[in-house]
Amino acid sequence: MFASSSTLRLPSLAAATLVLASSSFAQDAPPPFDWASVEPTTDLRWVDCYQSPLQCTRLSVPLNYSAPDQGNAAIAVIRVPSPVADTDAYRGPILYNPGGPGGSGVTELVAGGGAAYLDLFGEEFDLVSFDPRGVNFSTPAIQFFDTPEETNAFVANASTLLSLDPENWDTLPDRLEEMNEIGDQIKDKFADTLKFATTDNVARDMLRIVEAYGREKIQYYGISYGTVLGATFASMFPDKIDRMIIDGVVDVPGYYASDWTLNLVDADATLEYFFSACAEAGDRCAFGADSKEAVQERYDTLLASLAEEPITLPGGGGSLGPEQLQAPIHSFLYLPRNYAMLAQGLAAVEARDAETLALLFGTGAPQSAVGPLALAIRAVDAAALRDTQEDLQEYAMRMRESTKYFPAAAEIDRLFASGWKINPDHFRGPIGSDNTSHPLLVIGNTYDPITPLAAAEKVSKLFAGSSLLQYDIPGDRKSVV
Ligand SMILES: *[C@@H]1O[C@H](CO)[C@@H](O)[C@H](O)[C@H]1NC(C)=O
Ligand SMILES: *[C@@H]1O[C@H](CO)[C@@H](O)[C@H](O)[C@H]1NC(C)=O
Ligand SMILES: *[C@@H]1O[C@H](CO)[C@@H](O)[C@H](O)[C@H]1NC(C)=O
Ligand SMILES: *[C@@H]1O[C@H](CO)[C@@H](O)[C@H](O)[C@H]1NC(C)=O
Repeated sequence: MFASSSTLRLPSLAAATLVLASSSFAQDAPPPFDWASVEPTTDLRWVDCYQSPLQCTRLSVPLNYSAPDQGNAAIAVIRVPSPVADTDAYRGPILYNPGGPGGSGVTELVAGGGAAYLDLFGEEFDLVSFDPRGVNFSTPAIQFFDTPEETNAFVANASTLLSLDPENWDTLPDRLEEMNEIGDQIKDKFADTLKFATTDNVARDMLRIVEAYGREKIQYYGISYGTVLGATFASMFPDKIDRMIIDGVVDVPGYYASDWTLNLVDADATLEYFFSACAEAGDRCAFGADSKEAVQERYDTLLASLAEEPITLPGGGGSLGPEQLQAPIHSFLYLPRNYAMLAQGLAAVEARDAETLALLFGTGAPQSAVGPLALAIRAVDAAALRDTQEDLQEYAMRMRESTKYFPAAAEIDRLFASGWKINPDHFRGPIGSDNTSHPLLVIGNTYDPITPLAAAEKVSKLFAGSSLLQYDIPGDRKSVV
């Protein structure tokens, strides 16, 4: 949507706006790979793909594990093979999920996003990732829109339609009706594939990958949505854990109830960390002031002036008021290395410099958390809701107890799920185990805007013997990539 002639570094920007999905950093684009040329098999037949040392394969799995005659899915699997695979030092595969849901493990590894983890884990492992059912190169594919423009239009609409701000409660009945219509349309077109794209099935697919490797137990590292996947796997197959790390932990029981309130409890604290850091950075912070309190005041004043007079974005980008600013600022807080750019964006908003601020906060930027596939997977995973207007209002008030600054950043799921109509019976808990075959390692950060320490604590308590590692850093997960 935006020209790349800007002086701002767009690759980092794109990473910052990927909500609940991990960042990826494109190096030189590798040659494309024709996944259709690989025949899906039930064993792992690796072929070279993209660029060295990557290898790919397609694993054939049942769409419905209870009824294998109902057809198969083909899971696109990719790995960075261990260079010491033929020696005694080799320690097998680590499966990795980059978040989402809807995040593509293939794209992540191709873009080099896996390299940082390989450095961390060591070369005695294969780093293995995959596109979960319905995502990207796995088939059957779920494609709601034909073009990125249509997807962007949906996302732009979604972010204005789906906040539950009390100021807009008079529009709730209409919006509920619209969500019901969208729910009906999606059911008509995609029920046959979406009903199988649930996280418990992705967990079963992971076990198949492990078994096809000739191993009994999983070694797994998951971040963000990958912690939902990991905790689900560990609840379903507690005796199949070799090692499991979940990092940047979502409130998993909340996830299956479409309740995001706990996930936002530290969002304000993360913003305040940004205020402090900006004050300390002095001239190097474009939105600075003498003290943390003064930066906060500058921010509050900015929001008030936007409320009074919203900014019209160029190119039909819509209107930018304080509410529209919530989701982009919130996602900027995920990655501390982008905080300087966040400050530039805020200064641009303050100066009403529409061109610059549109680059940073424009509503056309792809945001995977409100992308239709991410919303759909979360909705099909969750218990059926059918919220009434009163239910939604009660939810909105609870969200506003969690976060003063960012309630609109994460209310999208709740309203969307209210109109959702595809509700297959499937495993969505109870999450936890009193005896995993190896204790889980659960990691959380002190200031995390979307996967707070409280959620890591909650999930850790559900898995007997698990350890909780707390990093005293801002952002979500360890921010190594
Ligand atoms: C999977 O198959 C079982 C057994 O036939 C059936 O009860 C269940 O509804 C199927 N699941 C889905 C999502 O269709
Ligand atoms: C899916 O693959 C395409 C390349 O074909 C890539 O541009 C896109 O970012 C991928 N989607 C995700 C969610 O990674
Ligand atoms: C966006 O919302 C408007 C107003 O409700 C509607 O007319 C339009 O079809 C929507 N566009 C998309 C892509 O959903
Ligand atoms: C825990 O699970 C292991 C197998 O993973 C089993 O050998 C052991 O007996 C179980 N312990 C308890 C207390 O259930």
